[in-house]
Amino acid sequence: MSLARSSLALNNVRTSAVRSLATSAARRQAVAQERQPIQKEFKIYRWNPDEPAKKPTLQSYTVDLNACGPMVLDALIKIKNEVDPTLTFRRSCREGICGSCAMNIDGQNTLACLCRIDRNAGKDTKIYPLPHMYIVKDLVPDLTLFYKQYKSIEPFLKNHKLPEKGEYLQSPEDRRKLDGMYECILCACCSTSCPSYWWNQDEYLGPATLMQAYRWMADSRDTYGRERKEKLQNDLSLYRCHTIFNCARTCPKGLNPAAAIAKIKLELASE
Ligand code: SF4
Ligand code: SF4
Ligand code: FES
Repeated sequence: MSLARSSLALNNVRTSAVRSLATSAARRQAVAQERQPIQKEFKIYRWNPDEPAKKPTLQSYTVDLNACGPMVLDALIKIKNEVDPTLTFRRSCREGICGSCAMNIDGQNTLACLCRIDRNAGKDTKIYPLPHMYIVKDLVPDLTLFYKQYKSIEPFLKNHKLPEKGEYLQSPEDRRKLDGMYECILCACCSTSCPSYWWNQDEYLGPATLMQAYRWMADSRDTYGRERKEKLQNDLSLYRCHTIFNCARTCPKGLNPAAAIAKIKLELASE
């Protein structure tokens, strides 16, 4: 290689080294900037049954989003662990399976573990318990009636005969009829977003329970469909649904209880 060529090659190496240093410095600066604290305000509903005379309040907490996981449940856990151990909420699986972290976040019923924190630090996030429910404490609603209603529809397989081969068989086609219903995790987001349920929850079963009622009516292995339908043949248990679709809009699992309710009504009408 000539002297001129080797000096050109050396210059090229130097230039690319300088460029790469500049790029990594820029990257380091970007990472440093990214790690600057992002202070976000969370306003959280508080009510303590031990102080029943005290009205519920919204308590403010500030969380550095760069020192916190991405979901609202991460922020709640961080607040509870590091700032205020008295903050009370339900959670278990942290991945949208158990249904226990259902709450109202910025006006929407959803699961805190599936709800991403809005990283806009200029806007606070407001967290309330599921609406129109009695409250046990802070973000914990009393679900006693909800589960009582679920129990009332007998959410298990009922068949007049014992299975011939030790178990009840089902074709893949019949099994597919349960899709969109068996995935329900009973979080109650839908029922507590339903205006009919708000005002008539003593009698109206609500979307979650009604979808589960239909889940068993639609199961080819269950022979109690007629009895199940008869139980709903009254003014309130089913017909308080006015097909407003709040339930389908809010379901964090993407299910459509209103469609299941419409199918029950159709089957009852065509009998
Ligand atoms: S239908 Fe959806 S919102 Fe309603 S209880 Fe089931 S998972 Fe929750
Ligand atoms: S469609 Fe029916 S169950 Fe769903 S929110 Fe409306 S009234 Fe309630
Ligand atoms: S913690 Fe289980 S669904 Fe959110």
